[in-house]
Amino acid sequence: MQAITRRLGHQSLRPTASISSIKSIYPLSDHYYGGDHPRYGSTLASHKGMGHLVRKGTGGRSSVSGIIATVFGATGFLGRYLVQQLAKMGSQVLVPFRGSEDNPRHLKLMGDLGQIVPMKYDPRDENSIKAVMAKANVVINLIGREYETRNFSFEEVNHFMAEQLAVIAKEHGGIMRFIQVSCLGSSLSSPSRFLRAKAAGEEAVLKELPEATVMKPAVMIGTEDRIMNRWAHFAKKYSFLPLIGGGSTKIQPVYVVDVASAIVAALKDDGSSMGNVYELGGPEIYTVHELAELMYETIREWPRYVNIPLPIAKAIAMPREVLLKKVPFPLPNPDIFNLDQINAFATDTVVSENGQLE
Ligand SMILES: NC(=O)c1ccc[n+]([C@@H]2O[C@H](COP(=O)([O-])OP(=O)(O)OC[C@H]3O[C@@H](n4cnc5c(N)ncnc54)[C@H](OP(=O)(O)O)[C@@H]3O)[C@@H](O)[C@H]2O)c1
Repeated sequence: MQAITRRLGHQSLRPTASISSIKSIYPLSDHYYGGDHPRYGSTLASHKGMGHLVRKGTGGRSSVSGIIATVFGATGFLGRYLVQQLAKMGSQVLVPFRGSEDNPRHLKLMGDLGQIVPMKYDPRDENSIKAVMAKANVVINLIGREYETRNFSFEEVNHFMAEQLAVIAKEHGGIMRFIQVSCLGSSLSSPSRFLRAKAAGEEAVLKELPEATVMKPAVMIGTEDRIMNRWAHFAKKYSFLPLIGGGSTKIQPVYVVDVASAIVAALKDDGSSMGNVYELGGPEIYTVHELAELMYETIREWPRYVNIPLPIAKAIAMPREVLLKKVPFPLPNPDIFNLDQINAFATDTVVSENGQLE
């Protein structure tokens, strides 16, 4: 996997749409510590009434960057790299988590003592969201899920939760930067419900907070990714890999660390990323088949594929979708045959050539 991540290094970061005229409601502070240290200095604007951000030190884990970020979805794949980068520059990171206390444990070690603060919350309880946001000046939303469960629909996780966070951040009054992580290919007209929900989430966030920044990464690659690892496990277990629709769909995988860097870069800029939507793709476009070849090369197995036509792949994936809400017990999470992912992968998903629209 190392070889792959190296080959996929360096994202291309293209702003695609400025949703509204970027009128910052937050006056930029002309007094910020670290302005002469471009490597670590954050240019985060202070909100009216909040006073200046306190920045101390030369940078690094034991400094104070002035950023106090609540990172929703920090317990996931991208979260671990983002928290690491935020902690490395001396930011305090509030980590809302649900479930077991063990979920955010790996993140605690990334920052100086007391800098990573796991906080139990319930995404359906407004007060608990307010509590985890209370001390923050930055909110980053990484919450997302590419399959439905009995408890949570695509819309609730990818749209309504994002909207709720934006509403609460607006009410809070002291949130200087809000970053919403969506997905490349999200569109209200997508055949995939997940991508439609993601697009609705972006729209809702920008409606509440026009100065929010939206990041739309392509499929992310890295040690814990859910594409190459999944394929590798399948190929090792069954000695073949199903290639849905012949694997000719084009994708532009991006290295997860680059996505985390793009988010941190947006936080550290002079406010120019506020109100913008960025598509984040890797340096190369691959067909699904080419990427699978790379996976086989990495696991040192002889490539063996079984071509599954699209309608058959959908037929294999369908029973889970039909039964999900009908049976009184949880069904296994979908793996390669995820109906929504099959729909999403039916069309090419690459970074658009558009520059900034406004
Ligand atoms: N992975 C990719 O290839 C990829 C590509 C493009 C865009 N994205 C987007 O980038 C973001 C981060 O991706 P990722 O790969 O880091 O995702 P991930 O590993 O699946 O992590 C998702 C995070 O969202 C949280 N979450 C999921 N369902 C939730 C719910 N019902 N209530 C509260 N929290 C919930 C998870 O919390 P728990 O740990 O408690 O479940 C976890 O912290 C997501 O929005 C994703 O859609 C991902």
